[in-house]
Amino acid sequence: MRRLADEIRRHDHLYYVLDRPEISDEQYDELFRELRELELARPDLVAPDSPTQRVGGAAVSTLPSVVHLAPMLSLESVTRPDEVGAFLSRAAGSTRASRGHVPSQLRLVAEPKLDGVSIEVVYDDGSLVRASTRGDGIHGEDVTANVKTIRAVPLRLRNAPCPVPRRLAVRGEVLMTKDAFRRLASHAAPGEATFANPRNAAAGSLRQLDPRVTASRRLNVLFYDVLASAGGTPLATHEAELDAMRAWGLPVSDEIEEVESLDGALAYHDAMEARREALPFEVDGVVLKLDETAARERLGTTARHPRWALAYKFAPREATTTVRDIIVQVGRTGTLTPVAVLDPVSIGGVTVGRATLHNADEISRKDVRVGDTVRVLRAGDVIPEIVARVPRAGEHRRQPFEMPERCPSCGARVRREGAFDRCPAGLSCRAQLASAIKHFGSRDALDIGGLGQQNAELLVDCGLVKDVADVLGLRESDLVRLERFAALSARNLVTAIERAKHTELARFLYALGIPGIGKTSARDLAAAFGDLDAIMHATEADLVREGMGPVAALSVATFFRERRNRAVVRECLARGLTLRGPTVRRAVGPLAGKTVVFTGALASMPRAEAEERVRALGGRTSSSVGPKVDLVVAGEDAGTKLARARELGIRTIDEGAFRALIGEESSHGQRRHRTRAR
Ligand code: IVH
Repeated sequence: MRRLADEIRRHDHLYYVLDRPEISDEQYDELFRELRELELARPDLVAPDSPTQRVGGAAVSTLPSVVHLAPMLSLESVTRPDEVGAFLSRAAGSTRASRGHVPSQLRLVAEPKLDGVSIEVVYDDGSLVRASTRGDGIHGEDVTANVKTIRAVPLRLRNAPCPVPRRLAVRGEVLMTKDAFRRLASHAAPGEATFANPRNAAAGSLRQLDPRVTASRRLNVLFYDVLASAGGTPLATHEAELDAMRAWGLPVSDEIEEVESLDGALAYHDAMEARREALPFEVDGVVLKLDETAARERLGTTARHPRWALAYKFAPREATTTVRDIIVQVGRTGTLTPVAVLDPVSIGGVTVGRATLHNADEISRKDVRVGDTVRVLRAGDVIPEIVARVPRAGEHRRQPFEMPERCPSCGARVRREGAFDRCPAGLSCRAQLASAIKHFGSRDALDIGGLGQQNAELLVDCGLVKDVADVLGLRESDLVRLERFAALSARNLVTAIERAKHTELARFLYALGIPGIGKTSARDLAAAFGDLDAIMHATEADLVREGMGPVAALSVATFFRERRNRAVVRECLARGLTLRGPTVRRAVGPLAGKTVVFTGALASMPRAEAEERVRALGGRTSSSVGPKVDLVVAGEDAGTKLARARELGIRTIDEGAFRALIGEESSHGQRRHRTRAR
């Protein structure tokens, strides 16, 4: 039983912490079943930290209160660079807020500020004995049974190579990935209350009276602090603490880096903010911490927060405003999208006047009506979205909104497909045709400057354009006859069209607007087949063989089987379209299919260019080091990503070796170190 339990724990660690499973789910389930059978036969031998004990215990009526082993402080938080400078100066013992170097005794560690629920987990002799929420920082709620259901939380710590202190309290954040949150939200029945964001979902799932409910939610955890320890070797730095936690089997973020000086801290913040949307978890800022334990002790804490750490938050993305109207837009593929027209409101420096309401189900679930006060989220580059309505006492509400039965553009009877209402009229619907034309000329497609929404609508309305091929046949004399076209803009548009006729195959494939084929799939398709004819004649099976997913393959094959679509393509070619094949056909070479991470500063080229080179050679890039990474390129001052790569036994090379790899002359003799640790 003990051997089986150890084996299961090892696979839990491989799966949940290292993201590197060695056996299939079925094999895992088999081990689990075997252990459970043995335990059923010998209940007297069931260890409290056995992997089967994750979903144990019955529901309780309240969550009891516990006292934390050490106070769980909060962080001072700021939003401006000068406040970060002031913090660093204070920490350095200087009163002058300079942008200078942080003295070397002030090594800094920068971490994502994870937007979840803070917990304390206590291990006695390496076994999980208690977990609690932060509460008021002194007392928290006992959520042991619930935390035990989170598979990423080890029930027993690994004692080697780094001995676990006799008693250990660690602090971390319980999180729900954005994906898990979306899945949870999409499974909610209409009218059922849902969580507004992943943090609320994580909190709600954690503070359950019945641990089975927690177990059914996909929660995750990342640890970032040793809160208290007794009977272990004291650790001199935060880096050493993080490494020890990793060695004990506790999941720790891959995004943590050592940074230097104010500039380093600001750059880390800006880079993290730029990647915010792409991160699997919600992150609402970065946390800067002094690395050295001695320096931390010198600075001490106030009643509420340590003087050695600071939260530097991202710009807010939410605001509250009023819904003036709800309109319905028809998209390129005929989907009807309800859109809220808002009292304009500024969010993170951008004025937002419209927000999407997605579909009829979303409207009824969120129960948004004209006149309501709502919270609006503007996340990155995506369309602003209504998060929730803010109920107000005594408000007089309008009637619920109803989706139209006919397409607001062409009057065709709307069809329901899954969660969405669609206009079935295709390119005979004016709105869909205008969107298709606009997409055809958009920047990543044929890049025809001057063919925006307005002109696309105009060309459709006056009957000059009935499909995308007609765009390539437009003449200046046709355009100047239109009232809204000045001679100059007519000439510019025709010049842009002529220029766009000589384009890349991938762009044209994207421009055609084949359902489900975005820029990346179009590029893959062009690289795999090399020319248009081959793609047009490819069967679904051919496409799958060349690496397309089954849905995309079906979509491409169906599109080109349609006679009308083939005619449009022929017409484009007849009107002078010439297509360049891909420059790199199905890349072969040292980087093809490899995932590469850059860390530290590169001297010979900007990071973005280096990443572009990797992609051009058929590789992928990633910003964090994990088991799926093949190569780490370490520039100047490479930090924890390099250490992590070595720990995982990933090949690391320096800039010179990278330049040699991509076929650039290296200027001087290069050292090349290969690590294949463990
Ligand atoms: S350190 C004494 N590190 O932010 C310092 N906190 O008040 C302990 N948080 O309640 C906190 N990510 O829940 C730390 N990398 C990180 C964090 C982090 C998120 C949370 C924590 C705390 C809140 C700030």
